[in-house]
Amino acid sequence: MSAVRISPSMMCADFLHLADDLEALQAGGADYLHVDIMDGRYVPNFTLGPDFCKALARGSRLPLDIHLMVENPEHHAPSFAVGPGSVVSIHPETTRHPLRTLELIRSLGVRAGIAIDPAMTIASVAEMLPYVSLACVMTVNPGYAGQKLVPTALAKVRELAELVKARGLDVEIEVDGNVSWENIPRMVQAGAQVLVAGSSSLFDGKGGLVENLRRLRTLIGSE
Ligand code: DX5
Ligand code: ZN
Repeated sequence: MSAVRISPSMMCADFLHLADDLEALQAGGADYLHVDIMDGRYVPNFTLGPDFCKALARGSRLPLDIHLMVENPEHHAPSFAVGPGSVVSIHPETTRHPLRTLELIRSLGVRAGIAIDPAMTIASVAEMLPYVSLACVMTVNPGYAGQKLVPTALAKVRELAELVKARGLDVEIEVDGNVSWENIPRMVQAGAQVLVAGSSSLFDGKGGLVENLRRLRTLIGSE
């Protein structure tokens, strides 16, 4: 596994040719499959659900990186405990007791994560870091693919990386949103270890998936 990991954003995949996309992502060396779950309440949009996650787990050997953008994730987490090595991330502001919800996720046999909205500070989630194995800095407002980077998010990646290091924690640092060919070098430089690759890079529609994965891996120095 390379130092910087690639987590293709499956909401950007071609649903009419999902099996082909999955095969290409595996062959091209993706590390995770990022699945955005939206409930039309916490975010205005609707996207994927548990059946889609189960199908991915059946159809591939890659761990799922499930990003819950839903209110009260404690009610829904059991439906997403899918596949070995998978991680289920919540937005802490969507649940009354984030630590309890993170423990619930871990008790389901999957890894727990948090996703940090652009308006939330790193300090506000610091107490949760010992309970998670992944912390995702949202670099756009959650809800849609194809948005522009919120520039202040890069400093937060750096702040989070320093905090994780200072506390000696084992937490993967992920970036999600406008992870573009141009933004990747500075995101990695700031401390990002997992890149959610969506319409800004891997699924830009210009190169094929295998070709774009190779380009991504060259950019992060893993090839
Ligand atoms: C945003 C989603 C992302 C999105 C990233 O809420 O979580 O996964 O698809 O892709 P782009 O590159 O379109 O921002
Ligand atoms: Zn996401």
